[in-house]
Amino acid sequence: MKALVLSGGSGTRLRPFSYSMPKQLIPVANKPVLVHVLENIRDLGVTEVGVIVGDRGPQIEAVLGDGSALGLRITYVPQEEPLGLAHCVALARPFLGEDDFIMYLGDNMLPEGVVEIAGQFTADRPAAQLVVHKVADPRAFGVAEVAPDGRVERLVEKPQDPRSDLALIGVYLFTAAIHRAVDAIEPSPRGELEITDAIQWLVEQGADVRASLYQGYWKDTGRVDDVLECNRRLLDGLRRDVRGEVDADSTLVGPVVVEPGARIVGSRIEGPAVIGAGTLVEHSHIGPHTSVGRNCVISGTQLDYSITLDGAVVSRVKGLYGSVIGRGATVEPSSHGTDQHRLVVGDHTRVEVAA
Ligand code: DAU
Repeated sequence: MKALVLSGGSGTRLRPFSYSMPKQLIPVANKPVLVHVLENIRDLGVTEVGVIVGDRGPQIEAVLGDGSALGLRITYVPQEEPLGLAHCVALARPFLGEDDFIMYLGDNMLPEGVVEIAGQFTADRPAAQLVVHKVADPRAFGVAEVAPDGRVERLVEKPQDPRSDLALIGVYLFTAAIHRAVDAIEPSPRGELEITDAIQWLVEQGADVRASLYQGYWKDTGRVDDVLECNRRLLDGLRRDVRGEVDADSTLVGPVVVEPGARIVGSRIEGPAVIGAGTLVEHSHIGPHTSVGRNCVISGTQLDYSITLDGAVVSRVKGLYGSVIGRGATVEPSSHGTDQHRLVVGDHTRVEVAA
């Protein structure tokens, strides 16, 4: 079996971060979502991975390289425009050949993995096996209508009036039958070749299409609030590991990771929390449920339920909560007086200040 990971797309819901980085590289527990995805694939024993990349492909290649650090062999498949999930399958056809494959959306997190579901697929080899999860509001997802025996009866992409609460959650297992389906469909009204339409075509041809209900935790990390929530969830499984320097005036409580080269000075870190390599935390209170990236400086600050990306600087700010601070961004008190806020914020950024 091969794997196809979709890591192109535009990521408009993850602005402003997606202006400067592919959304699949946003860190959760200080590791890009895409790396979590590839580790899941490696756990299946799959080593040949095609990665679809868009115009931010070079940033992805800089992080993943040839895949050998993860025990994988990566083939990059460029996609000039995000023309749909089924378009990705068509582009990857030379890489996939006639092999079975697992298709995995590069922004979906299923931390407990899909080993069992992939095992069912390998044993039974239906034309397609989908992974579904019950959601409160299915309108933002592909929705499957599934018979009690697990056979898929109908699929609709982002329906206005969903007839089921089972959402597709970004993992699909296919035999080569999917290629005929992709060739047969036309672009949807939003101009994309939809994988849901291709699978629906298989259903209409009488092919064996099944769905497995995923029991574990799942999150589409397409929006900032989902990234924070997913970060919280992953940090809950953290184990204490302190490799950086912690001075005598600092206190670490519970599961705290201090990566090599990080320094904690006169601070309290409340786990679960992770402090990235090369970061300085001084006279601050960090955590719980907080990830600080690499080479950051956090000084005189209180930071809870938040993520800072690499190289961020946060000085003398109390009460930061639910915040995501971008690479190399600076947050500090105004130098123009105590009752003034000075904001230099990028496009589509959200700032909430205490009133
Ligand atoms: O999150 C699960 C949902 O993912 C499913 O329920 C939907 O059926 C499926 O269509 C998809 O919906 P999204 O609106 O969330 O798709 P998004 O545009 O975020 O794309 C999913 C991933 O695929 C993302 O990592 C970007 C990548 N992608 C997307 C398109 C359209 C590509 O690489 N190329 C593309 O052309």
